[in-house]
Amino acid sequence: AGSAPEPVPGSEPQPVLSPLTTFATFLVVTVDPGGEEAVRGLLADLAGLERAFGFGAPGSSLSCVAAVGSEVWDRLYDYPRPAELRPFTALEGARHRAPSTPGDLLFHVRARRQDLCFQLAAEIMRRLGGAVTLQDEVQGFMYLDARDLLGFVDGTENPVGDVARDAVLIGGEDPAHAGGSYVIVQKYLHDLDAWNTLPVEAQERIIGRTKATNIELDEDASHVALNTITDPDGTERDILRDNMPFGSPGRGEFGTYFIGYARTPDVTERMLRNMFLGTGTASHDRVLDFSTAVTGTLFYVPAADFLDDQPARPAAGAATSPAPAPPAPAPIPRPADGSLGIGNLNRS
Ligand code: HEM
Repeated sequence: AGSAPEPVPGSEPQPVLSPLTTFATFLVVTVDPGGEEAVRGLLADLAGLERAFGFGAPGSSLSCVAAVGSEVWDRLYDYPRPAELRPFTALEGARHRAPSTPGDLLFHVRARRQDLCFQLAAEIMRRLGGAVTLQDEVQGFMYLDARDLLGFVDGTENPVGDVARDAVLIGGEDPAHAGGSYVIVQKYLHDLDAWNTLPVEAQERIIGRTKATNIELDEDASHVALNTITDPDGTERDILRDNMPFGSPGRGEFGTYFIGYARTPDVTERMLRNMFLGTGTASHDRVLDFSTAVTGTLFYVPAADFLDDQPARPAAGAATSPAPAPPAPAPIPRPADGSLGIGNLNRS
């Protein structure tokens, strides 16, 4: 965007690093033409809503991370684009594909209580009513001792503490977006009947950990091995995963909602290329023989301060806007008596 970069006021991150909870709701929406102002208003109020619903429920760890997609950025902000904000790259492997699907906003709502996730998600959607189109909604839950529906403990090797902050939060490499992050989501559906015909030892070789005891195995073509990414100098590159199982036994739906936060989406996409396109040691990740990716979207997670005090919107018809200018909103009808049409504010 055109104007001179101004430093972000502070760089307090959104609650990206908040702990894994027992429930999560994932909402992905696209912003309708003319919906930009409602979106900006909701994003500014999000931290307040989180406090409003979470304060009276101590220990519930209610949190919400909001993230913005590539196509909507220039409609919302006259501000330099995050350096690596781009659409998710679809992958066509020999056996499996990772589609790229629409999404302008992601809301990742987490809590130890399902009702609070529901309440916050409901309020977000109420506030965005008429401004957005729902693309996907998933209610995730912690299954047993943090297992995915394939039966394996998921999340063990996530970075923690300073290592996690360093892996996830943007720093000096993009000063206008310090404290921000990138997030990739993919919704996977499992063929559990096929998976469950495999002997446990075969499942363990595919994942790269033992099933009952969660001990890492020395397998060079496993899911774990394919997702162990190192730079040429040997430094291991981490992402922060907050995957959640979801499903509907009645409809035979069993899934994993993959969500990976990273300081650069490049690390996550390197993992995905290993999984879908293979490496020297593996033609593909065999988890994919039992798991189909049905969505795939990349978002930028602004710092909390950015949402509290968002930069201006682009001027109407600004040359920076890649999309055709949305139609002007219809004038608000006013009652003929010249009042604001909101009734009598006196309580008496
Ligand atoms: C590790 C499950 C998709 C990245 C693991 C582990 C399990 C698992 C059980 C071992 C325990 C752990 O450390 O968490 C799944 C399932 C998926 C899925 C069920 C979806 C069907 C993905 C995707 C990515 C990914 C799409 C990356 C883009 C990783 C990484 C590790 C891991 C980085 C840790 C590797 C290490 O030990 O250093 N996953 N995963 N996973 N997964 Fe996945």
